Amino acid sequence: MTEKKGLFITFEGGDGCGKTTQLNLVAKYFREKGKVVLVTREPGSIGLGQKLRELILHYDEDIAPTAEAFLFLADRAQHVCKLIKPAIEQGKVVLCDRHTDSSVAYQGYGRGENIEQIKNFNNIATQGLIPDLTLVFDVSEDIAQKRLGKEKDRMESAGRNFHKRVREGYLEIAKQEPQRVRVIDANLPIEDVFEQVKKIINEKI
Ligand code: TMP
Repeated sequence: MTEKKGLFITFEGGDGCGKTTQLNLVAKYFREKGKVVLVTREPGSIGLGQKLRELILHYDEDIAPTAEAFLFLADRAQHVCKLIKPAIEQGKVVLCDRHTDSSVAYQGYGRGENIEQIKNFNNIATQGLIPDLTLVFDVSEDIAQKRLGKEKDRMESAGRNFHKRVREGYLEIAKQEPQRVRVIDANLPIEDVFEQVKKIINEKI
């Protein structure tokens, strides 16, 4: 990585894994070091994405798995083009709550869409952009369920077996790309999880 280029870190994991809390701690950590940080998320970062998020998560009729995959990809294409790429080019640290691996884990492993095709579509949506680091927050099903509470959106209420496949999918992604993807034990208290995160980030930068 050259001096001028920013850093792109993605935060991944099943619903209720605690990644958003950790992302905010990482943002504070980088800001204290004087870095300019962009905190963003998928789906739903900017205008079009916010509309897509509402549609995907709260649409009350059945959505075909392939259509669901393309809705997330449409959000990603807009997000990368309009927000992520420009921020990285400006040298910012971009922290993104979910990105390409969510499509592979949820639509690929979870819904059963063709994984290689999802990866190819991801590549089109991101114009080939790959995160410098991806943190996968791995948490047991019981803890995830407790963290989610009772009000669940369309994806969160997809069932235990679906979420089990998503979790296994993430672990498989990490196995296949150990250089980029690191698994964090997110069953622990927030501070202990953050210690693991800091260690990995400091190794990487
Ligand atoms: P969030 O609640 O972490 O913001 O994520 C929104 C939901 O959308 C979550 O259940 C995961 C799901 N999702 C996918 O299924 N595929 C994707 O590509 C993305 C970005 C999210």
